[in-house]
Amino acid sequence: MAEFSLPANSKIGEGKTYKAEAGAKRVKSFKVYRWNPDDGKNPVMDTYEIDLDKCGPMVLDAIIKIKNEIDSSLTFRRSCREGICGSCAMNIDGTNTLACLKPIAEVKGDVKINPLPHMPVVKDLVPDLSQPYAQLRSIEPWMQSETVAPPDGERLQSKEERAELDGLWECILCFCCSTSCPSYWWNGDRYLGPAVLLQAYRWIADSRDEATGKRLDALEDPFKLYRCHTIMNCTQTCPKGLNPAKAIGKVKQLMLERQG
Ligand code: SF4
Ligand code: SF4
Ligand code: FES
Repeated sequence: MAEFSLPANSKIGEGKTYKAEAGAKRVKSFKVYRWNPDDGKNPVMDTYEIDLDKCGPMVLDAIIKIKNEIDSSLTFRRSCREGICGSCAMNIDGTNTLACLKPIAEVKGDVKINPLPHMPVVKDLVPDLSQPYAQLRSIEPWMQSETVAPPDGERLQSKEERAELDGLWECILCFCCSTSCPSYWWNGDRYLGPAVLLQAYRWIADSRDEATGKRLDALEDPFKLYRCHTIMNCTQTCPKGLNPAKAIGKVKQLMLERQG
């Protein structure tokens, strides 16, 4: 698969401009990263002028309008349109976020849209997430228990045990956090990054899971966990309001406690 990767702040040349239709009164420009692996050209920023009177309120509405009405070659991921699937994660106005949750009205001036930074690009706004998904697989994100489940019911938790999962289960694996983390930019092949570490802690914190020791052993590594330097970009960018840096801190705390 052909892929292209640019650092977050690279200057990209201007591409085509698609003017708004005559008579449009509330015109906003969307500058969108375009790269096609099949044409041999460098990436450019195409400009699409949109009449906001004929567009929904979110950035994803504008992107869908561009694809449906102006330029069907624009490529991006989306599914739910309500902040649940995580697939519309991209960099909007310099911040990683979900296009479906980002109001156009929050962006002053032109709306600049790039793929998630520091990831290989498959095409246009579609990043190649093979690496973080492989890392997610490596932490075995499913419940592991030797104890046989009750034959006539579910594995129960107290209210307090269940509350330990709040702030963790809501993660939609959009990878906005990991792709905003400088440690992940530079060491993403070995550092697991905030999204995957939050998932690792989600299972460590689950009272029904009995593999805590094995899970901590697997994270006891100079790169997988300890490349987090508490820079906090991850927590600032999470579109679901979660705190991956805190989850990473809790894993580090558990490591210290078991060292005695
Ligand atoms: S707190 Fe850790 S995981 Fe979050 S951005 Fe900083 S270094 Fe990355
Ligand atoms: S912690 Fe937030 S930013 Fe990171 S993957 Fe989960 S939902 Fe996305
Ligand atoms: S389309 Fe599903 S989170 Fe945006």
